[in-house]
Amino acid sequence: MDQSGTLDALLQEERVFRPLPRVLAEANVTPQRLAEDMARAQEDYLGYWEDAAEELDWFKKWTRVLDDSNPPFYKWFTGAKCNIVFNALDRHITSPNKNKLALIWEGEAGDTRKLSYYELYREVNRFANALRAQGVGRGDRVVLYMPPLPETVIAMLATAKIGAVHSVVFGGFSAKALRERIADAQARLVVTADGFYRNGRVVNLKAIVDEALAGREAACVETVVVVHRATMQADMTEPRDVWYADLVRHEKPESPTEVMEAEDTLFLLYTSGATGTPKGVVHTHGGYMVGVHHTIRNVFDIKPTDIFYCTADPGWITGHSYAVYAPLLAGTTMVMYEGHPLYPQADRVWSIVERHGATILYTTPTLIRMLMRFGKEYPRKRDLSTLRLLGSVGEPFNPEAWVWLFKHVGRSECPIMDTWWQTETGMFMISPLPVTLLKPGSVTKPLPGIEADVLDEAGNPVPPGKGGQLVIKKPWPAMFRNLYNAPERYVETYWTKYPGMYLAGDVARKDEDGYFWIQGRSDDVLVIAGHRIGTAELESAFLAHKAVAEAAVIPVKDKIRGEVAKAFVVLNEGAEEGPELVKELKEHIRRELGPVAVVKAVEFRRELPKTRSGKILRRILKAEETGEAAGDVSTLED
Ligand code: WT7
Repeated sequence: MDQSGTLDALLQEERVFRPLPRVLAEANVTPQRLAEDMARAQEDYLGYWEDAAEELDWFKKWTRVLDDSNPPFYKWFTGAKCNIVFNALDRHITSPNKNKLALIWEGEAGDTRKLSYYELYREVNRFANALRAQGVGRGDRVVLYMPPLPETVIAMLATAKIGAVHSVVFGGFSAKALRERIADAQARLVVTADGFYRNGRVVNLKAIVDEALAGREAACVETVVVVHRATMQADMTEPRDVWYADLVRHEKPESPTEVMEAEDTLFLLYTSGATGTPKGVVHTHGGYMVGVHHTIRNVFDIKPTDIFYCTADPGWITGHSYAVYAPLLAGTTMVMYEGHPLYPQADRVWSIVERHGATILYTTPTLIRMLMRFGKEYPRKRDLSTLRLLGSVGEPFNPEAWVWLFKHVGRSECPIMDTWWQTETGMFMISPLPVTLLKPGSVTKPLPGIEADVLDEAGNPVPPGKGGQLVIKKPWPAMFRNLYNAPERYVETYWTKYPGMYLAGDVARKDEDGYFWIQGRSDDVLVIAGHRIGTAELESAFLAHKAVAEAAVIPVKDKIRGEVAKAFVVLNEGAEEGPELVKELKEHIRRELGPVAVVKAVEFRRELPKTRSGKILRRILKAEETGEAAGDVSTLED
C-alpha cells in the first residue's frame, strides 16, 4: 500500500463529535432503538432482515428468507414475487405521496424540471409501453448511456417495470468502454441523449454511441432511443435510431408492472477489477430493494419533509441505489443536477441546496476538497440552513476536508454519514447513524445485520490499529448475486481467499473502539475521485498506443482526487520520448477510457521490474514512488 500518508493522518485523528440532543431525540433510529436492532440482528439475523422486508409490498411473500444451500450463490426471499418499481412508484400513487415531488431536476443552464410521484409514474408507464412496443421484454438487456436527466430515471424504472434488465454506462466513459459493455450484456436497445451540458459546453453523446455501435461486437443492438436534450443536430440512422419523444407520444400513461421473482435480475452495473475486462455486477429485485430501502431510512433518517440531494451520477452505484431507487422507495424528494459542480462558479452546489431547500446532502470527499479550495466564502454566501444531515462516499475522507464540511456547510450541527459500501454490496454496509459518535475519517461501525471484520493473511482478526483485509462474514440482502457471464470470476475474486466470507478488496483497520478506518484498495484497482478503474484497463489502453511496448500503472496521491494514475512506460524501437509524447499518451488514454481515467504522470523506462515468471512488480514501482520499503523482493528478476 502506498497510502501511508493518508493512513498516518487518519491514525493521528483523535477528535470526536457527539450528536446533538435534538438529533438523539428525533432520529428514526434512536440510541435505544439502535441497541435493540443490534441485539435483534445478533440473536435472530434472518428475522432482522425479514422485518426489513415486511416494510415493503410483495405480490407474494417468501418461503425462505435466505437460501444458503449453494454458497457463494446466495438467494434471498426465495419464492417471493415482487417488482422494485411497484414499491418505488405504484404504491405511492394510492398514498398521500401521489402529489409529492419525486424529482427536482436542474440543468446546467439553470432550467429546472419537477415531477410529482404521479407524473413520474405516468412518464415511466409511457416509456414502459414504448419499450414493450419495441419488442423488449423480461430478461432483455437495455443499456442506458445517459447524462443525469429525468429521462434517465424514467428509463431505468421503465426497464425494471417490464422485467427487463438495465445496464447504465456512465456518460463519461468512452466509445470503446461503451462498446465493451454493450457486447458483454448483449443489449438489444440503447437509450441515450443527443447531447448534454457540461461546463458550459455541449457533449455530443450520440456521436459516441455511433462510434461504439460501429464495431461488429455491438451488432446485438437493434434500436437506439435518443432523448433530445441539447440543441444540436444528431445523426439519426434509420430505422435503428428513434427519438424518445416520437416513441412515447402516443403511448398510454398506464402500464402493467411485471410480476418478478425476488431473485430475478434488476440490473447489471459494470465496475473495474484488478485484471481483465470490467465485471458485470448483478443485482436483483427483491433483496436489493429491501437493503437500500432499509439503509436509507436508517442512515439518512428520511422524514416526510426531506429534500435529498445526492451529487452522484446515475451511472454509478451511488446513483442507482441512493439517487434513484432508495429515495423513491422511501417516498422522498430527490434533487438531481445535470452539470459540472463548478459551473458557472464555485457556489453551484451550495446554490442548489439553497434554491431547493435540500435537507440532506450526499457527496464525495473529492468534491468537498475541490470546493474547499475556493474558500468558505462560497458556502457562507448561501442559505444552507435547511441542511440537517450530510453524507460522504467513495474514498477515505481526510479529516481536514471532513471538518471543513462539518463547520462551513453543516454549521457544526449536521452529522456526517461517511458510508462505506461498493457496487457489489449494493447498499451501505459500514456507516454511522445520525446518533453515532463520529470520528472524522472513520466510517465507524457495521450497520445492524452486517458482520464485518479485518483479517490478516492467515484469516485471523488483526489486533486494534493493525491493517488487514476487510471482509463481510454473512450474506446481506442487497448483495450482488454473481458476475454476468463470469461465475468463476465471482467465486475466485470474492469468495475464495477466506472461505465463507466476502472479500471486499479494501485494506482497513479497526481502532480500540471497534471503529473502522478504510485505507484504500488492496488489489490493483485505483480509486480516482471515488471512481474505480483497474490498472489492467489503464495498462491495456497504454499498450494500444503504437509507441508503447510495455506499461505499468500505479496509483499516486492527489490533493483533490485522492488518487490518480502514474504510468511507467517502455517505448518501442524508434519512438521518441519527451513532453510531446507524454501529452499524446495522456490524450490517448482519455480517448480510450474517457475522462475518468486521470493520468498525472508518464515516466519512460528502459525496463520494468518483473518476477522471474514475467509478472510486473507494481509493488516495487510504488515503493520507489513513496520512498518506502518494497517488501519481499525475492521473486524479482535480477
Ligand atoms: C470502493 C468501491 C459505493 C459507492 C461509491 C464507490 C471505496 C467507498 C468509501 C468510504 C473509504 C470508500 C472503497 C471501495 N470506498 N466508500 N466511505 N471510505 N473508501 O463504489 O466504485 O464500487 O467503489 O470505493 O475502496 O472498495 P465502487
